[in-house]
Amino acid sequence: MSKTSDFSPEVLALHAEALERLERGHLVVIPTETVYGLAADAGSDKAVAAIFALKDRPAFNPLIAHFYDQEQLSAYVHISPLAQRLLDAFTPGPLTLVLDKKAGAPLSELVTAGLSTLAVRLPHHPVARSLLKNLGRPLAAPSANPSQTLSPTQAQHVREAFKEADQVPFILEGGPCQEGLESTILDARHAVPVLLRPGSLPVETIEAVLKLEVQRMGEEVSMQDAPIRSPGQLKRHYAPQTPLHLDITHPSLGDAYLGFGPTSFKGEAFCQLSASRDLQEAGMNFFAMLRHLDSFGKKRLCVAPIPLEGLGLAINDRLKRASTEKDLA
Ligand code: TXA
Ligand code: MG
Repeated sequence: MSKTSDFSPEVLALHAEALERLERGHLVVIPTETVYGLAADAGSDKAVAAIFALKDRPAFNPLIAHFYDQEQLSAYVHISPLAQRLLDAFTPGPLTLVLDKKAGAPLSELVTAGLSTLAVRLPHHPVARSLLKNLGRPLAAPSANPSQTLSPTQAQHVREAFKEADQVPFILEGGPCQEGLESTILDARHAVPVLLRPGSLPVETIEAVLKLEVQRMGEEVSMQDAPIRSPGQLKRHYAPQTPLHLDITHPSLGDAYLGFGPTSFKGEAFCQLSASRDLQEAGMNFFAMLRHLDSFGKKRLCVAPIPLEGLGLAINDRLKRASTEKDLA
């Protein structure tokens, strides 16, 4: 897929520097197809601890480990028959699987926050793949934003988010993220896949390819398939400063408005997720537009109704979480 020769000498020099930093146990921001990640050598306690410190992330919230390929992955987790099908069908790509960790896997305990499971992902962004291949070890990487703020889909977002504290980490540029929403997370330990977080890979696509129903959280499941929770899903996340108002079709002129499809809104603070109501386009624009509208400092940030299907499920999940009162965090 990603041949090293695809990159210019200047870019290759930056890759080499990133690699060296990771090998020394330092943090590097990497592009992935979903959002930018704040990456560290998953085997190093010191490096992984630095992720939690920089993000101000609670230590009980585990991280996703990113791998180059299935061979590398198989040393760290037990690959269930369901996981094997999912890996073959959808990876590399925007899918994260929660699986049982293998005893003795060379992994910092901080990555899993003490759980016996590990969330794993094989990203397909060529820069991430090149780095993972050359490092030869997995990278622990949450989204590269301070805890409880909007996820970054451009390198510039990362710079802005960390510059106040004068703590901007080394960033590998990779252009705007093509998917724009975080990966879909499934508990794939048993026969029935359980959705822990809707994301860039639509559940309907998974169901169509696997010819299997994906269990949504909150639905009844058998004891054997009892889902574990994604600790990060319990909290307010992805939040802008401006109070969010959802499902608004007629905002006031003074509001900030995030549209989806045709609208007669004439206010100054306006962004269009997708004029043609294309959810893929909306997903890619989502975080950057929320961020932009937030910067107007209006009293309300209104959002048009977005259908609860395909990528709309992930978009609505982020919106709901972002509009939750702060003290739920
Ligand atoms: O697209 C993505 O997934 C991005 C890119 C950088 O890969 N990463 C990302 O990471 O969104 P983060 O840390 O922002 O979200 C990871 C989520 C959290 O909600 C966390 O609680 C959950 O995954 N998680 C991690 N390990 C888990 C585990 N063993 N069991 C259940 N949930 C887990
Ligand atoms: Mg995150």
